[in-house]
Amino acid sequence: MSQPPRTITVTGAGGQIGYALLFRIASGAIYGQDTPVSLRLLEIPAGLRSAEGAALELTDCAFPLLRSVEVSDDADTAFAGADAALLVGARPRSAGMERGDLLEANAAIFGPQGAAIARSAGPDVRVVVVGNPANTNALIAAAHADGVPPGRFSAMTRLDHNRASGILAAHLAVPVSDIDGVTIWGNHSATQYPDITRATVGGASAIDLVDAEWIRERFIPRVAGRGAEIISVRGSSSVGSAASAAIDHLHDWVDGTPGTSWTSAAIVSDGSYGVPEGLVSSFPVRSVDGEWRIVDGIELDEFSRARIDASVAELIDEREQTRSLGLL
Ligand code: NAD
Ligand code: LMR
Repeated sequence: MSQPPRTITVTGAGGQIGYALLFRIASGAIYGQDTPVSLRLLEIPAGLRSAEGAALELTDCAFPLLRSVEVSDDADTAFAGADAALLVGARPRSAGMERGDLLEANAAIFGPQGAAIARSAGPDVRVVVVGNPANTNALIAAAHADGVPPGRFSAMTRLDHNRASGILAAHLAVPVSDIDGVTIWGNHSATQYPDITRATVGGASAIDLVDAEWIRERFIPRVAGRGAEIISVRGSSSVGSAASAAIDHLHDWVDGTPGTSWTSAAIVSDGSYGVPEGLVSSFPVRSVDGEWRIVDGIELDEFSRARIDASVAELIDEREQTRSLGLL
């Protein structure tokens, strides 16, 4: 056991994704097999029993790396000393709810959680927002976290990235490990742009192996609509794949992306690729020395530019609505 223990906070830990996440984190999937972990689970009162049940089961697994599990409905207690925070708990859209209502309900969660992270989390905390609308929830949390560098906040588009890689591999009947260089741009929503113009398949250019019509008419809508497809087929939103992507995101952030590979994450824009500064948008990223860095120098064709602009326009609109409600 050579590494110091790490503390990971999971919000919404009594929910579906929380349940799929906890056991993998406790078995070392983020920090590796030489790093003990302590888990802190945050829930609202209605979800506490479910989180407490998961905590009992975690004890019963006798994970060698798991030092402690604490369950709380107090944000400062749950974020105390956190090295990483997975913000999964969110308010789902219910019948009759307008988009503004959804943004308002979630701002009431992510604003105070951002403030609690600033007060209580560890100095190097890394935050991954999973709860939807993930990009704007991350924007709100970061805006309320005085003193925490914006680069410590991110929203998850790794699920979209993994979906794009998986669907491309299945179409070409190759192992997914052959796929590299996929990018998700923009919002974690149906406007996202899954881009394979730079992708390679076993070293060969992906766009030489698939036809342009398949990319535009099948691949892009399938990836961008995959969340809805899962809901329609399963009867509820993705759980195992979402938890797996959250682990991949945090693992790569901590450990670094291998070689020249990149992945996708929604991070606070520095103005790259014409995405307005401050928006939380998905980019091609590498993790270097524990920080996400946007891959630069990618030339965008007209189609890609238009797709990115459309998704960024939606993010701008979400930010404007949030501002006009006085939530930013
Ligand atoms: P779920 O309803 O099963 O669980 C959510 C849990 O969050 C519940 O237990 C609830 O009590 C808790 N919660 C609500 N408000 C909270 C708060 N203020 N503090 C702490 N906990 C709180 O939902 P799920 O299937 O686990 O999904 C969680 C979220 O993840 C949803 O918003 C979903 O849309 C989103 N999601 C995102 C992606 C992505 O790729 N970014 C993928 C799948 C799902
Ligand atoms: C997903 O991409 O699977 C989810 O974001 C869908 C949802 O609405 O929860």
